[in-house]
Amino acid sequence: MRTDVSVRPVAPACGAEIRGVDLRRATAGAPDAGDDDLRVVRDALRRHAVVFVRDQPLDLDEQVALTARLGRVLRVPYIQHLPSHPDVIAVLKEADERRISTFGGSWHSDFSFLDEPPSFTLLHAKELPEVGGDTLWASQEAAYDALSPGMQRLLVPLRAVQTGWPHGTNGPGPNAAVSRSVVMTRNDPSADREVLHPVVRVHPDTGRRSLFVNPVYTQRFEDTTVEESRPLLQYVFDHAVRAEFTCRLRWEPDTLAIWDNRCLLHLAINDYDGSRRLLHRTTVAGERPVGADQR
Ligand code: SIN
Repeated sequence: MRTDVSVRPVAPACGAEIRGVDLRRATAGAPDAGDDDLRVVRDALRRHAVVFVRDQPLDLDEQVALTARLGRVLRVPYIQHLPSHPDVIAVLKEADERRISTFGGSWHSDFSFLDEPPSFTLLHAKELPEVGGDTLWASQEAAYDALSPGMQRLLVPLRAVQTGWPHGTNGPGPNAAVSRSVVMTRNDPSADREVLHPVVRVHPDTGRRSLFVNPVYTQRFEDTTVEESRPLLQYVFDHAVRAEFTCRLRWEPDTLAIWDNRCLLHLAINDYDGSRRLLHRTTVAGERPVGADQR
């Protein structure tokens, strides 16, 4: 480990703060540019699932270039991109947008309803409230591990229906009535498509098992109705975000958070009415989730 770099866990279940790297080096163009710094980030992601890299004054081109060093850049559907940078979305709530839900304000894994949901998300802080607007993550590996063997055996063979319907032709769902500043592109019937994913997935790099359902996009278990699924699904939703599985980020300008959607849920805390909050988000493509019974 380099002596100028520190990687400090922020909670037992997930999350680490990194200081002393300069990720702009990794955007310099040469295929091995900034490899040392990237190695620190990749190792920390593998161990802690989400990293908070402090003091990264990235511009938009640099953020996209950095994202590409982690995998194929995914242009996410249903959300209006920045006109100048179609691979970037602005996560923004204006100071005058009061008493409105915010983008990412319920526990979720980004775009889990895609056939191949994203692996990593990068979120870079530009403008922040004086206080508030923190983000929480919950380790879904810790959540799976904490279940009884009987409940693990019950869940492993199950698959669940995931759909992006809150953003689709059915109109906004309860979690989609968000700030006017993040523009959802509606009337795209593909958002209503139902995609089946395993309830317990296996991480392609670490081989570890994690829960892969969330209250925003997961509707029901395969071959059951919403009503039939609700009691067990609600139990899993509640269990998945127990406090001991979580970590919390207090943002600073130029903090870059990078997280692994394959083994985490996250939530933006909507407690900063009257302040402007702006972050830039990019996403790395992932793979079709593999269930723990498929290996
Ligand atoms: C998101 O869900 O990507 C947004 C998280 C945040 O704004 O903190």
